[in-house]
Amino acid sequence: MKVLIVGSGGREHTLAWKVSQSLLVDKVYAAPGNGGMADIAQCVDIKDTDIKGLREFAQKEGIDLTVVGPETPLVAGIADEFQKYGLRVFGPNAEAALLEGSKVFSKEFMKRNGIPTGDFKVFEDFDEAMEQVDAFGFPVVIKADGLAAGKGVIIAKDRQEAEGALKEIMIERKFGSAGDRVLVEEFLTGTEMTILCFVDASTMVPMESARDYKRIFDDDKGPNTGGMGTFSPNDVYTPEIKREFRTRIMLPMREALKKEGIEYRGVLYFGLMVTGGGIKVLEFNCRFGDPETQVILPRLESDLVEIMNSVVDGRLSKQQICWSDKSCVCIILASGGYPGSYKKELLIEGLEQAEGEETFVFHAGTKKEQGKYYTNGGRVMGVTALGADREKARTKAYAAAGKVRFEGMQYRRDIAK
Ligand code: AMP
Ligand code: GLY
Repeated sequence: MKVLIVGSGGREHTLAWKVSQSLLVDKVYAAPGNGGMADIAQCVDIKDTDIKGLREFAQKEGIDLTVVGPETPLVAGIADEFQKYGLRVFGPNAEAALLEGSKVFSKEFMKRNGIPTGDFKVFEDFDEAMEQVDAFGFPVVIKADGLAAGKGVIIAKDRQEAEGALKEIMIERKFGSAGDRVLVEEFLTGTEMTILCFVDASTMVPMESARDYKRIFDDDKGPNTGGMGTFSPNDVYTPEIKREFRTRIMLPMREALKKEGIEYRGVLYFGLMVTGGGIKVLEFNCRFGDPETQVILPRLESDLVEIMNSVVDGRLSKQQICWSDKSCVCIILASGGYPGSYKKELLIEGLEQAEGEETFVFHAGTKKEQGKYYTNGGRVMGVTALGADREKARTKAYAAAGKVRFEGMQYRRDIAK
């Protein structure tokens, strides 16, 4: 099989790494890929949002399966386009991807189908939103409706911050049309947990649990990022919580999709909060998580391409999926200044020393030139290690992270602590 991975982040490097281990696969392509993917795949210079260009490439090259990493092309309808031309694609169509593409759609979907989630209201008018924001109490959560690269969520601790956030989104239009509508949400407290599920028209199968760290600095200080580290399994995912997730969230979600005639195919990401009042859904994503993928796929013992084929062909219920009992920890090495502005094109050293037995470096913002790697983004790479338990995995991952060097490099010291 020829497999095309769409995207250029750490998630996509991990997907390419796992896909390339499949006995079914002869060749892996990445569009546009990154410095690390260039070592295991043929990178082609097509943007992940160039849906027509990607489809033409897949036709010309005879790609047997296209795996879409990021949300933007999915929400824009890449799966619909590929299906229209008879191409096999792993990822939901635009209608199903709206669960991530519109936070308002997703909250209303949960509400009418009885899926547990925090209280919320939708606003299109700034004054009206300001009038009602007090009713939620503080802190309160404010979200732009559309895609905003993880930056459209603000937790406002008082009225003044709420006003600032609503102004930015609704008046200054920081996120453009993604801010046409705004969600004001009840602030939930508890422990966060990510569960990714493989999904076809009739079946949902949860993968192993994970925990993501969204803030830039230790002790969850500073602004939100795309994710600064992860570990798997997540210890809040006890057998009881697993049962509750299955009966109160996953199965109702499967039924709700059926009832509403939404044919979901791919990975559905459940961003969850385990609260005193049960598990609640914070958000859905229509794809693998980044950097959750970096700690989940190293634990997958089954052939990922075989699973993806089952999803595409609608026979997931018959697919066996096996996981390793080991723990996995991923530390994101980021550019100095991230998530604000940062320098690029800095030489990265120490990569060979960092890699080792069950220790992997998944590239994100890197590029390769004449055999050397340079920084090319905010999150540069995820140093990932498997271990018999979390502490062992953590020690290995940090030892490896300490071997990598580039100017301004920053990372959290408290991942998986
Ligand atoms: P989202 O992109 O919707 O997952 O939001 C990003 C992050 O904001 C989440 O991972 C949580 O840490 C936080 N968050 C979002 N919604 C809420 C909420 N209703 N209550 C508390 N924290 C939230
Ligand atoms: N780790 C959060 C996300 O993938 O959106």
